[in-house]
Amino acid sequence: MRLFFGLISLTLLLPIGCIDPLIKPIEQNSAPYSEQYRPQFHFSPKTSWMNDPNGLVFHKDQYHLFYQYYPDSTVWGPMHWGHATSRDLTHWNHEPIALYPDSLGYIFSGSAVIDHQNTSGLGTEENPAMVAVFTYHNMDGERGGRTDFQTQGIAYSLDGGLTWEKYKDNPVIDNPGIKDFRDPKVFWHEPSQKWILVLVAGDHAQIYQSPNLIDWTFASSFGHNQGAHGGVWECPDLFALTTDQGAQKWVLSVSINPGGPNGGSATQYFVGEFDGTTFSTDQKDIKWLDQGRDNYAGVTYNDAPNNDRVLLGWMSNWDYAQVTPTAPWRSAMTLARKLELKVEDANFFLVQKPILDSALIAESRQIDPKTLKDGIGLPVERSRIEFSVDLSQNTVFELFNEQERFVFTIQGATGQMIVDRRASGQINFSDKFAPGLQQVQYVPQKRNAEVAVFCDTSSIEIFVDSGRYVFTNQVFPRQPYTHLKITANGSSSDNVIFTELDSIWHE
Ligand code: FRU
Repeated sequence: MRLFFGLISLTLLLPIGCIDPLIKPIEQNSAPYSEQYRPQFHFSPKTSWMNDPNGLVFHKDQYHLFYQYYPDSTVWGPMHWGHATSRDLTHWNHEPIALYPDSLGYIFSGSAVIDHQNTSGLGTEENPAMVAVFTYHNMDGERGGRTDFQTQGIAYSLDGGLTWEKYKDNPVIDNPGIKDFRDPKVFWHEPSQKWILVLVAGDHAQIYQSPNLIDWTFASSFGHNQGAHGGVWECPDLFALTTDQGAQKWVLSVSINPGGPNGGSATQYFVGEFDGTTFSTDQKDIKWLDQGRDNYAGVTYNDAPNNDRVLLGWMSNWDYAQVTPTAPWRSAMTLARKLELKVEDANFFLVQKPILDSALIAESRQIDPKTLKDGIGLPVERSRIEFSVDLSQNTVFELFNEQERFVFTIQGATGQMIVDRRASGQINFSDKFAPGLQQVQYVPQKRNAEVAVFCDTSSIEIFVDSGRYVFTNQVFPRQPYTHLKITANGSSSDNVIFTELDSIWHE
């Protein structure tokens, strides 16, 4: 919570919509998308600051990605909604900025729906409106020491998200006197034939209902005494998933900052029931979506094909997001991931399946395991590396260049999975970037598990046990990593498939 308001206070002197004269124009020294650290198969804006994914909705063959965006700087500022579209969740087209701050405030995080039945009257049934539901953050209110400066507003588009009109009677939900009252996620709830909105209210989530996206009624709250509370709750999501054994459950995910298991920002989730009014769970433990440090504010798509639950997260952490060594942009999104719900001994957990268009596969080859023992030169800089591990053994996975090294260890002996990015490259831009190891406890068993690692220019995403344990991390090697080494109990590992990946940014 402290950190969040630290961020807000950076902008306290800025009138809404004005450009800070101290902010230098954003310079472009290299060709776009070929700068040092530029992600080659993850979404990042051409220039400027980005944080949370917003308004994730699939409509007319396109995945829309809106995002928290400040076009005038590479640090956080007056929030707009940037916009991009994709047909495959891998290649992205930049679209014009969708929402600009106005007299009611900055445009904070939120969601988007297609109003298929024209419940709002903002479109027609033939041409339903795309409706964005977001938080207005009013700077005058915050500066004036008020507590009611966050309200919920809506905007609509009748041309598939290209141009937007703000609703004339905003806000549609007033602030009930709660300082952190934001990040509405809306979806259509078929059984009750209502729109459901979940938002965060400081240390808990609140659920609202509406027949038309305009008139909202408070329904219930959740979480005062459940889950992790090391920081303010942010960016909730609520969705149904059916387990591989056929049970339908509801998942409520909530991002929290600070208070993540490895410091700073992280996302927790609860598995339970939702009856259209109340979310409840008997879950006792805290479940984290990602064990790494750079997957925050993740939310899922509305209306995705095949009823899939697809998540995108912001690949950064408020602990150091504003000082990572990139220019002229800052931040990227995670790979899109399909979420599935599994159950084992009455314990429910999410698994994440990374989504990557196969057209990106430049070359795939099996690696002779013997060559991996001492490290082998490979174009790992843009790659997918797949292998299987015996969970009861010690497996060490390393990416390195002459001076720098990223290490991931599965320690069957102690039951720990450990990421070490302390020597991964530039880390000194923040003492919070790599102060220690990232660890997760698991139950070692004599069985094989599949591992997939996605290395981009400045990130490494590791999916262990087919996506049950995920570590998403940024890295900033001074020179690209050139070598891969994998050992299992000191000897070589089997079944290693190395895939070189293309860039998504060919113009
Ligand atoms: C999460 C968050 C949201 C807020 C937005 C502001 O990263 O703090 O709670 O709406 O960022 O940019």
